[in-house]
Amino acid sequence: MEFNLSEEHLMIRQAARDFAQTELLPGVIERDNEQKFPAEQVRKMGELGFMGMMVSPEYGGGGMDTISYVLAMEEISKVDASASVCMSVNNSLVCWGIETYASEELKRKYLPDLAAGRKIGAFCLSEPEAGSDATSQRTTAIDKGDYYELNGTKNWITNGNSASTYIVIAQTDVEKGHRGINAFIVEKEWEGFQVGKKEDKMGIRGSDTHSIMFTNVKVPKANRIGEDGFGFKFAMKVLAGGRIGIAAQALGIASGAFELSVKYSKERKAFGTEIMNHQAIQFKLADMATEIEAARLLCLKAAWLKDQHEDYIMASAQAKLFASTAAMRITTEAVQVHGGYGFVKEYHVERMMRDAKITQIYEGTSEVQKIVIAREVLK
Ligand code: CAA
Repeated sequence: MEFNLSEEHLMIRQAARDFAQTELLPGVIERDNEQKFPAEQVRKMGELGFMGMMVSPEYGGGGMDTISYVLAMEEISKVDASASVCMSVNNSLVCWGIETYASEELKRKYLPDLAAGRKIGAFCLSEPEAGSDATSQRTTAIDKGDYYELNGTKNWITNGNSASTYIVIAQTDVEKGHRGINAFIVEKEWEGFQVGKKEDKMGIRGSDTHSIMFTNVKVPKANRIGEDGFGFKFAMKVLAGGRIGIAAQALGIASGAFELSVKYSKERKAFGTEIMNHQAIQFKLADMATEIEAARLLCLKAAWLKDQHEDYIMASAQAKLFASTAAMRITTEAVQVHGGYGFVKEYHVERMMRDAKITQIYEGTSEVQKIVIAREVLK
């Protein structure tokens, strides 16, 4: 068993750390206040190879492993979880989904721009009445011969307006249940595609989350991903990998809040000494450090399994469940360590506490992760 990171992994982590400090940290509070998508920063992330890290160089990507992706996600998320969710959806759900399951034609058409961050991808599964219960799709794609006619509404779509390439999950044959669901690549410019309302969110406020409406959108047959009826399994497989990215995001938010808490506890004085000298603070920091280490190991284990082409369904759900719960607890404690300063925006931890909450909700709630884990345990 080897716990050390390779030279290459260390370099990637350092590059992501440097980028986060120099490009993301300035302005992160303003973007959160103004709900401003970090468009310029995401463009630079594309240039540096963070938007298509695992895409093979043949399609314009970085050809890196999932461990590298986890390391970069942690560093970017330490500073700006709105930028990192854009990165996560583009890498895990969109690029990986297309490279692993789409036709050669679709890979050549869509991956180079997505991997370079020239275009951004979005993943449209959730609906007003199909969140956790993902089989209950109401969006329909009716076979019209040489194209599908797409109608319906998707909700809470990350990168909803900033994206231009959308993977859309839709019901093609209601009689067949989840075997009658398909996944398609849909372009924003197509007639009948409409970006709906922007959500005013508690956290990750720099990320643009929208509803998307489709009215008689003509989707070429060639834009279906995989065999007819593969859409639900495609979504599940893609989400199993995506959960590693969100686990790493939760880990990053937690470790960002922890690092700020350590720094603050060395500076702030109370009762005649720096607060780090009080056991009440030391116990909090010790719990935080321990949970972060456990979350990191779970993330890296899930990433390693994926890189080894072994089953990672349970490992990714465990990593996400644990890391997101830890992130919520750790960011709440970070606010407590900062006292009154923790409750104001300038000190970052209040934003981190708000951002942490979404990691327990998207790409499957904590309850969904428990369903996935329990099924694996009991099968
Ligand atoms: N890999 C491959 N196949 C899988 C699978 C996986 N990980 N999970 C399930 N399947 C297969 C099953 O084997 C089954 O196939 P067969 O019938 O042929 O045996 C089929 O899919 C149906 O599976 P289930 O019966 O388990 O389906 P279910 O309806 O009971 O759902 C669930 C299970 C785990 C709750 C699932 O619906 C789920 O994961 N829900 C949450 C959805 C989710 O994560 N949404 C997030 C939206 S995207 C997002 O958040 C992105 C963003 O913005 C950041």
